[in-house]
Amino acid sequence: MALIAPSMLSADFLHLEKDIRTVNSCADIFHLDIMDGVLVPNISYGFPVVEAIASKAEKPMDAHLMIIRPEKYVERFAQTGVSMLSAHLEAMEDPVSVMGQIRSYGIKAGIAFNPDIPVEKVFPYLDSCDFVLVMSVFAGFGGQKFIEATFGRVQALKAEILRRGLDVKIEVDGGVSPANSAALAEAGADILVAGSAVFRSDDPAAAVSAMR
Ligand code: DX5
Ligand code: ZN
Repeated sequence: MALIAPSMLSADFLHLEKDIRTVNSCADIFHLDIMDGVLVPNISYGFPVVEAIASKAEKPMDAHLMIIRPEKYVERFAQTGVSMLSAHLEAMEDPVSVMGQIRSYGIKAGIAFNPDIPVEKVFPYLDSCDFVLVMSVFAGFGGQKFIEATFGRVQALKAEILRRGLDVKIEVDGGVSPANSAALAEAGADILVAGSAVFRSDDPAAAVSAMR
């Protein structure tokens, strides 16, 4: 059974506390999308919003850094109390050192990568991270269409993780919904991120349980 991580990018920012309560009551993880307008063509939110969420979150927080030079902000995110922190492969000069830096705060370290990056590119770093974040849309915006090739990418990663006997979790992010969640879990996904499917639903709790 996969864990469900609603993406707060799709939350109602005028009534953020209501959507935080939804995650606290029916989901597993708060997924926080941090975009700098440089690595990705969009800007999301920063520390004031992350800290506001942190003050009400009763579930672990997972920050997905879509920013250049992620190493500059690891300490600052550690201070917000996140339990998981990922940075993009395309944004890191030295992924092993960034993962080590994240782990030094007792935080689970993840490598995220876009759909046009061959999965084999992360294989050399599987010993250095706790999870991989497989993008099933191009990072930058919520509400995009799920890319079907993701199933094969998750299977290939899972096979490599098992072959090497590693304890690395697979998180899938982008266009995830009740229509593809079961197949993703079957392919090997451990954590499913979903923004629109949860917060654009009339019944977010039902959407979360459908994805489980
Ligand atoms: C995209 C973000 C995702 C996004 C997911 O760059 O990383 O977390 O908010 O939203 P949906 O589920 O709507 O694709
Ligand atoms: Zn994300």
